[in-house]
Amino acid sequence: MRWTSDLAVGVKEIDDQHKIWFKKAGQLFEAGKDRRAKEVIGELLQFLDEYTKMHFADEEKFMREINYPGYAEQKKAHSEFIQRLKKLRQDYEASGGSITVIIQANKMVVNWLIGHISRMDRKIGEFVKSQK
Ligand SMILES: [Fe+2]
Repeated sequence: MRWTSDLAVGVKEIDDQHKIWFKKAGQLFEAGKDRRAKEVIGELLQFLDEYTKMHFADEEKFMREINYPGYAEQKKAHSEFIQRLKKLRQDYEASGGSITVIIQANKMVVNWLIGHISRMDRKIGEFVKSQK
């Protein structure tokens, strides 16, 4: 569960944030695996939630600045993911801190990240290159 160079978008600010994102998701995964305290996992989930929102906001700002044609599609994908994260935190709370929920959560988060970066974010980098 690491950021690898094949996930590079080619825009430094975006890539740097993606790296931190993977690191955080990795920490959550480790905490789940080690059956760490509910508080620790709760805090990590909250951080992931906040970091995701900040990252999406930055990415969307960047897309507007460059007049990116795929903006609406990206924005929609971002809001859907934020909803999924919200649901996940609720499920985790409701389960009373279930490790299974955390492991499922991690799979969902990481698969989504990899899919989204390689299918959608990469196009932002291609667009930037084509404008030069
Ligand atoms: Fe994105």
